[in-house]
Amino acid sequence: MSDQPKRRKLLCIGHRGAMGHEPENTLLSIEKAISLGASWVEIDVYFVDGHLVVIHDDRLERTTNGTGYLSKKTFEYLRSLDAGKGQKIPTLKEVFDFINGKAGLNIELKGPQTAEPVTDLIKKQLDRRWRYENILVSSFNHRELLNVKRFDPKVRIGLIIAELPVDNAALAERLGCYSVHPSIEFINEVFVHDAHKRGLKVFVFTVNIPEDIKRMASLEVDGVFTDYPERVVKFSG
Ligand code: G3P
Ligand code: MG
Repeated sequence: MSDQPKRRKLLCIGHRGAMGHEPENTLLSIEKAISLGASWVEIDVYFVDGHLVVIHDDRLERTTNGTGYLSKKTFEYLRSLDAGKGQKIPTLKEVFDFINGKAGLNIELKGPQTAEPVTDLIKKQLDRRWRYENILVSSFNHRELLNVKRFDPKVRIGLIIAELPVDNAALAERLGCYSVHPSIEFINEVFVHDAHKRGLKVFVFTVNIPEDIKRMASLEVDGVFTDYPERVVKFSG
């Protein structure tokens, strides 16, 4: 038997579904991610006109045939739009129902006032087939993230960071996070080691180039967000 420590498996998280293949943040994209072997799917969420909608930008032009700021629209208008290949902008509830046990779900809170409705919806899903372990809520908005923890301390949260903090993953530990999600731009061995020492998982975004996927595996990060799940699943087994 070899004395070599076992290499960590790389969790494959489909970014906005599998946005390298299908229109981002649509049910089609989520379906593609799962069919390519992603064990988790990441999507972005805003709270608009009393509904949790799955979309990345605060404006509509880039990903739909609509125009203007999301926050100024009615739910009815948002649902009338084409989000690519005839897909509708999904609601978060539709995403929960669609995945239905086939993958884990990472909900990234994009807009303000999302923590409460998201936590409420999670509670309802827990009465069905979802479990806390299959849901992860993340955000660049660390205050909103902290609100999730206040509404339900059992919901797992992940701190997204787009820079390299001087105290590495200390804030994620302090906020009671399950994981920390650094940008690939800044990730290094010291950060990964620090996060692991604090008992945090490290999920890196966005990792698409095979050379980078290999580098992430050798850095022993726990998972990566990718637009191309098929490139990462080789490292997941
Ligand atoms: O959650 C990881 C990643 O999705 C964060 O960046 O801009 O793609 O939502 P963005
Ligand atoms: Mg995102």
